Amino acid sequence: MNAVPKIAIIIASIREKRAGLKVGHWVYDIAKSRTDLVFELVDLKDWPLPMYAYAETTKTMEAKYTDELPRQWVEKVGSFDGYVVVTPEYNHGYPPSLKNAMDYVYEGWNRKPVAFVSYGASSGGVRAVQQLRQVIVELQMAPIRAEVNIPFVFRAFDEKDALVVNADIYIKTAQVMFDQLAWWATTLKTGRM
Ligand SMILES: Cc1cc2nc3c(=O)[nH]c(=O)nc-3n(C[C@H](O)[C@H](O)[C@H](O)COP(=O)(O)O)c2cc1C
Repeated sequence: MNAVPKIAIIIASIREKRAGLKVGHWVYDIAKSRTDLVFELVDLKDWPLPMYAYAETTKTMEAKYTDELPRQWVEKVGSFDGYVVVTPEYNHGYPPSLKNAMDYVYEGWNRKPVAFVSYGASSGGVRAVQQLRQVIVELQMAPIRAEVNIPFVFRAFDEKDALVVNADIYIKTAQVMFDQLAWWATTLKTGRM
């Protein structure tokens, strides 16, 4: 019997006082009720990678990083069977912290599924997710259809960081997203063996 797929919940925003932290923890709390997947929170604020500036592209470079943080990041990404990206929308796109972290790794992302939880103002971050869907295909990742999009994030949570606006709808959608993610993570994990 295969081990339960291990999923990273990646918090993309690294801003001071970011909403991303409470959205990430909200996702993680729902995720913990699952028995078909195991989860770990990965906060990009804990991974202050400089902007990718190597002469070589990731495909040839990632096996020979000499700096400790990029080496550890390659190992970290590669240790998961799938990902949930928690992303805000910045100027109708996703944040540079996320793109840079993605650009540092190639093989570790390959043939693994990725789901999306976005947030923002009126759009709920859907434009950021649409952009991400293009990028992750180039990394040979499988995008999950069901996604959670939380609009007006600045008034969606109370002072105790509980999601209080339409929480029942988002929880239901998150579970559908995890159902789809579990199928892909399990299937691709078997396929990679
Ligand atoms: C640089 C920047 C650009 C933004 N652009 C958008 C945008 O295009 N659409 C949107 O819905 N919200 C936009 N916002 C508002 C963010 O969605 C909101 O500030 C959110 O809290 C950002 O996530 P964070 O706090 O986790 O960084 C922008 C915020 C920043 C900092």
